[in-house]
Amino acid sequence: MIKTGSILIAALVLAGAATASTTQMRGAELVSANGCRGCHVIGEDGGSIGPSLNGLSERMSPEMIKAQLINPKTINPNSFMPSFVDLPEEDMTALVNYLSELK
Ligand code: HEC
Repeated sequence: MIKTGSILIAALVLAGAATASTTQMRGAELVSANGCRGCHVIGEDGGSIGPSLNGLSERMSPEMIKAQLINPKTINPNSFMPSFVDLPEEDMTALVNYLSELK
């Protein structure tokens, strides 16, 4: 019984690690595919037209990040950041999760 339990826990831990790295990979892909670094520093590099997105979760909730991506003008009426409203829901979720994890 104890053995089964620890195998189960090990499996859950592994599954968790796999999910986290999948988010990281998909998020990084989406950032490149959508040209976010043209305007934002993410990690080590990027442009300075918009604010750096490192440490984003300290100032924005996932809901706020999503709102910014869907319609940047809701937060700043004069925003010229393009809208990413056309991203499939799955990609939007991966992107928001990735951005929320940036240190
Ligand atoms: C053409 C330049 C441009 C591109 C491309 C762009 N942004 Fe932005 N973004 C901005 C600017 C400028 C701001 C500052 C606030 C505003 O004007 O909306 C901003 C703000 C943000 C914010 C709010 C940050 C804060 O600290 O207030 C987030 C989150 C964000 N952008 C994410 C992204 C992501 C993710 C992508 C790619 C999918 C992206 N942006 C692409 C220009 C851009």
